[in-house]
Amino acid sequence: MADIAVLGHGVVGSGVLEVLLTHTQSITRRAKEEIRVKHILDLREFPELPYAGSFTKDFKVILEDPEVTIVVECMGGLEPAYTFVRKCLENGKSVVTSNKELVAAKGAELLALAQKNNLNFLFEASVGGGIPIIRPISQCLAANEVGEIAGILNGTTNFILTKMIREHMGFEEALKLAQELGYAERDPSADVEGADACRKICILASLAFGTHVYPEEVHTEGITKITLEDVAYADAWGGVIKLIGQVSMLENGHIAIMVAPMLISRESQLANVDDVFNGIVVRGDATGDVMFYGKGAGKLPTASAVVADVIDCVKHMKARKYLFWEEARPDYIEPFESIK
Ligand code: HSE
Repeated sequence: MADIAVLGHGVVGSGVLEVLLTHTQSITRRAKEEIRVKHILDLREFPELPYAGSFTKDFKVILEDPEVTIVVECMGGLEPAYTFVRKCLENGKSVVTSNKELVAAKGAELLALAQKNNLNFLFEASVGGGIPIIRPISQCLAANEVGEIAGILNGTTNFILTKMIREHMGFEEALKLAQELGYAERDPSADVEGADACRKICILASLAFGTHVYPEEVHTEGITKITLEDVAYADAWGGVIKLIGQVSMLENGHIAIMVAPMLISRESQLANVDDVFNGIVVRGDATGDVMFYGKGAGKLPTASAVVADVIDCVKHMKARKYLFWEEARPDYIEPFESIK
């Protein structure tokens, strides 16, 4: 029996519990052990739920429970998530998280802490929702030198732009719809101002190039200034506007990285990634372009990636997994002015 705790019963946390409940048998078979949710941390109470008795408001209950070996962080935001995750890793508990803000800001530090204590720190759900992308970059493409990663990494803005392009819907109305469907962040400015896509391209860049890339260093523009008129101009040119996160390895050994709305040809692969879907193209020197496509946001797609990490954690309880990158290198990022 593997006892786990889930921090946060929001969209993702409740999805994790739903997936674990719905697929108990096959998950047990794949993990080779039954996974029991022993505690759920949330300030709210949900007396109608089947696991209502597992709720706690006190993180200490989880930290001090020696039976809990894996903690699943689905709270989002930097604090208190960072403090809780650090404490778990300092106290012998592996961590699975969907929190891109946390990984983008503290990934190098938390990976080093996990390595030091021979624990796992896994975050497949932090980029691309249900799309496998962290494992493919760190494992399946590990024989390549990655030259470029370009992607539509935010479901909310892609949903909004799709509504603007296909239905001429206004920005505000489309954003409201995305929020109702549970795609947007708690504070949707992180979506529409590009911060969420920035965190995700930082995580992918850090993984691909082995050096932590901090969001503050990345030139980031969102979609708030895009109008229906811009969309019509793009259409007349034969293209569409998409919010793209892009990182390229330059000949001088630096990287160029940015997030911005870009005008792309209708013929390109990313132009046809619509609605809440994400699309990510990774260029390896051996593979050429490899494209990843799927639902990049939403309760169950994100929960699918979280639960897969939990299964991996249970299977590799005594052996640390493969993710790692070093702290940031000075002068690693080419100044935006020089790449325009
Ligand atoms: N708000 C995010 C998005 C959720 O829209 O892509 C998934 O990370």
